[in-house]
Amino acid sequence: MKKKILILHGPNLNLLGEREPGIYGTTDFESLNWQLMDYAISLDMEPQVYQSNSEGDIIDKLHEARKEYFGVVLNAGAYTHYSYAIADAIKAIKIPVIEVHISNVFARDAFRANSVIAPVCRGSISGFGTLSYKLAIHALAEMPS
Ligand code: DQA
Repeated sequence: MKKKILILHGPNLNLLGEREPGIYGTTDFESLNWQLMDYAISLDMEPQVYQSNSEGDIIDKLHEARKEYFGVVLNAGAYTHYSYAIADAIKAIKIPVIEVHISNVFARDAFRANSVIAPVCRGSISGFGTLSYKLAIHALAEMPS
């Protein structure tokens, strides 16, 4: 059976392409999602993409994902650095969640170097531009089901 994966984007990522292009690049959000879908499909997976600017929506989606999906690729945006509620949601579900960041969060403002979700994620990928998402998708593809 094909692995179903959820690519979950948090706040402000819908503005990719126009948001601080020097940091996040010029690929727009829609094109990124097409690229990620194509990549996941090429690895024989069934991807779904979801974006929300709200903490509660992200938590609801993680809860929903626990029944349907093999794993989640999560860019929680700034929630990464302070949302204990998202960290608890990840802890509550058994499926692997991979933390992703486009930028190198360790090379920027001091507050970005701390991730409250990292300890409860299966692993973290940061700093490879939009390729970070593909590396995470690849990791889920290689994970035993
Ligand atoms: C980000 C890094 C976060 O610190 C920031 O708040 C974002 C994007 C990244 O992908 O590099 O919104 O998660």
